Amino acid sequence: MPTSVVVGMQWGDEGKGKVVDYLTRYADMVVRHQGGNNAGHTVVVDGKQTILHLIPSGILHGGKTCLIGNGTVVDPAVLIEELDALAAAGHHVEGRLFVSLCAHVIMPYHKTMDKCQESLRGKNRIGTTGRGIGPAYADKADRFGIRIGDLLDAKVFETKLAAILDYKNRILTRVFETEALAFDTIRDEYLGYANRLRPFGADTVAMLHAAIAAGKRIVCEGAQGTMLDIDHGTFPYVTSSSTVAAGACSGAGIGATDIQRVIGIVKAYTTRVGEGPLVTELLDATGERLRDRGQEYGATTGRPRRCGWLDIVQLRRAARLNGATHFVLTKPDVLSGIGTIKVCTSYEIDGKPTAEFPSQIAMLERARPIYEELPGWDEDISTCARWEELPPNAQAYFTRIEDLAGVPIATISVGPGREQTIERFDPLA
Ligand code: GDP
Ligand code: IMO
Ligand code: MG
Repeated sequence: MPTSVVVGMQWGDEGKGKVVDYLTRYADMVVRHQGGNNAGHTVVVDGKQTILHLIPSGILHGGKTCLIGNGTVVDPAVLIEELDALAAAGHHVEGRLFVSLCAHVIMPYHKTMDKCQESLRGKNRIGTTGRGIGPAYADKADRFGIRIGDLLDAKVFETKLAAILDYKNRILTRVFETEALAFDTIRDEYLGYANRLRPFGADTVAMLHAAIAAGKRIVCEGAQGTMLDIDHGTFPYVTSSSTVAAGACSGAGIGATDIQRVIGIVKAYTTRVGEGPLVTELLDATGERLRDRGQEYGATTGRPRRCGWLDIVQLRRAARLNGATHFVLTKPDVLSGIGTIKVCTSYEIDGKPTAEFPSQIAMLERARPIYEELPGWDEDISTCARWEELPPNAQAYFTRIEDLAGVPIATISVGPGREQTIERFDPLA
C-alpha cells in the first residue's frame, strides 16, 4: 500500500489543503511533517470553508487518523483554537488526532524575535508570517528548543523554561532593546495549554511504523512550497524547514524507501506571498485579474498574493527536487476568459538564454522570462466532472504542461469544493 507525499511545487498556497482533503477518502492516515501555523490550508466541503494551520487537512473525514509530526513547530494556543473550532463545527477528533512528543513548541519569545528580526532587516525583510516559525526552528537547531514532550511534563518544562528564558531575555533586552518576558506568566499560560493537550501527545513515529506494517495508506501533507525550502528555495526568502518531499522522511520519521508516490500540487499560474524574486510576476491588469478571480489573499495573514504566469523553468526544478511522480493541477478555472495564456519556458540572464533555474538569488533577480503563448478558453470549467468535458484549449494547456515538465497530471481541481475535482487516474494507486 503506497505512502504518498503531497508537496507544493511553487511558493505555497497551491491548494494542498483542498487536495489532501480530497485524497483522504482513499487514505487511512494523514500526517503534517513540517512547518507550523505559517501554513493556511483551505478545505471547502458542502460550501463550508475550513482553514487549517496545524491540524492535517484530512481531519474533516471522520474516522481517519491525523498526526502532527516531529518535524513541525507547534504554537499550542493556535492548536487549541483549531481544536475548539473543529469541535464547534461538530468534528470529533479525540482518539484520532495525535501530536508528536518530539515536535517543537513555539514560545512567546519566538514570536517577539520574529518581529524584531524582520524590523532589523529593514528593506531586506523576508516578509515572514510573524508566527515565530524561523526562531523556533533556529532554537531546535541550536538545541535551545522545548518539545511537546517537555511541555507535557511540568517539572521538565519549568526547568527548561527558566534556563532558556534567562538567555532569551538577555537577547531581547540587550540586542533588541525590548522588554523582558516574565517567567511566571509564560509558565502559567503554557502549563494551562499542557493540561489541554496532554491527551493528544504521542509517539507518532511508532504509530506510523505500525500503520505501514499493517499496509495502511498514508498521506504526508507538506506545507509551504518547494521554492520556500530552506536549502533549495530562493534563500534567504524562504521558510525555515525542509519543504521538499524528502522533508517527510525526517519530519514524520519514515524511510525514503517507504515513499512510493510524490504528488506535486501545481497552481495553473504562479503566486507568492512575502518578499523575494518572482520571474513571471505580473504587475499589470492581468496580475490583478488573477488575484481577483483566484481570490489570492493569504489564508494565514490575509496579505494579497503576488501573481504571475506559470513558470516551467521553476516547475521542472521543483519536479526533480521532489521526485514528483504525479501532478495535481489546481485553479485552471481562474484562467477562463483571460485570452492568450503565457507559459515561461526559459529565462534570459545577462543576455544569455537558459532553461536551468539558477541556484543563486542574484542571478534569479536578473532573470527575464521567455514565454510561449497558448490560446485560452472562455468556458466556465468549474462544473466539468470529466476530462472529456474540458474545452480543447484547456486540455491542450494541461497536456503542454505535462510535456514541458515531464510529469503526468493525475487530477485537475476546477474549484475550491471537494467535488470540483476531475480524476484522470488515482494518484495514490
Ligand atoms: P494551500 O496552502 O496550498 O492549502 O492553499 P490555500 O488554501 O492557502 O490557497 C488555495 C486557495 O484556492 C483556497 O482559497 C482554496 O479554497 C482555493 N482553491 C483550491 N483549489 C481550487 C481550484 O481548483 N479552483 C479555485 N478557484 N480555487 C481553488
Ligand atoms: P502554505 O502551507 C505561502 C512565506 C512567508 C514568507 C516566507 C517566510 O499555506 O502554502 P515564515 O513565517 O515561514 O518564516 O515566512 O514564507 N510562507 C508562505 N507562503 N504559503 C505558506 O504556507 C507559507 N508559509 C510561509 O510569506 O515569505
Ligand atoms: Mg496556504
